Amino acid sequence: MEIIIREAKKSDINNLAVLKQQVWISTYADEGVTAQFSEYVLSEYSIENIRKSISDKSKLTLIAIYDKGIVGCVEILLSPQSPVNAIEPCMEISTFYILERFQGLGIGKKLLQECFKVITRLNHYKVWLTVYYKNQKAIDFYAKQNFTVIGETFFLLGKDKHKNLIMLRNIDK
Ligand SMILES: CC(C)(COP(=O)(O)OP(=O)(O)OC[C@H]1O[C@@H](n2cnc3c(N)ncnc32)[C@H](O)[C@@H]1OP(=O)(O)O)[C@@H](O)C(=O)NCCC(=O)NCCS
Repeated sequence: MEIIIREAKKSDINNLAVLKQQVWISTYADEGVTAQFSEYVLSEYSIENIRKSISDKSKLTLIAIYDKGIVGCVEILLSPQSPVNAIEPCMEISTFYILERFQGLGIGKKLLQECFKVITRLNHYKVWLTVYYKNQKAIDFYAKQNFTVIGETFFLLGKDKHKNLIMLRNIDK
């Protein structure tokens, strides 16, 4: 399966919005689509928000393309931040989505390798991310890619707090 990975550009905005909405729904709508859920999806993954994040120089979005269409994306926050007190500031993977029907085919691993290249080119050798504590599939994927749990945080959806794990990985020089 030939996958092309490249930086996202303005012409990808619509496709990215649809992909992110689809993956969010297929991953998290285990209680169905509620008002709070829809409000989040429609604002967070609006065309306007995606446009903003693509043109934000402190963020980088990579997309994976199979044949003609986008099948995955990853967003890196290039301004280093400390995930927990004891860890020096490092870059964060803030979004990591593979379209449902393309999951489990090695595309996530390929995208991650490209992230590591971007990050080491900028002379950083650690990366962190957060993952919903019940998202076992993603936790297992990250564990297999040598991320380890270093703490916990909360994700706010409306007024509801959802526990997330903080995971970190060293990248070889
Ligand atoms: C989690 C996710 C990014 C992984 O990407 P993917 O393309 O499905 O994963 P890959 O096919 O590249 O898997 C790479 C490796 O991880 C392993 N892996 C993938 N899912 C796994 C799982 N659930 N349990 C154990 N290992 C897993 C694969 O077996 C493969 O191992 P290998 O290197 O020995 O071949 C993707 O499934 C996804 O987008 N999920 C929905 C959204 C989500 O949860 N994103 C993360 C939010 S923090």
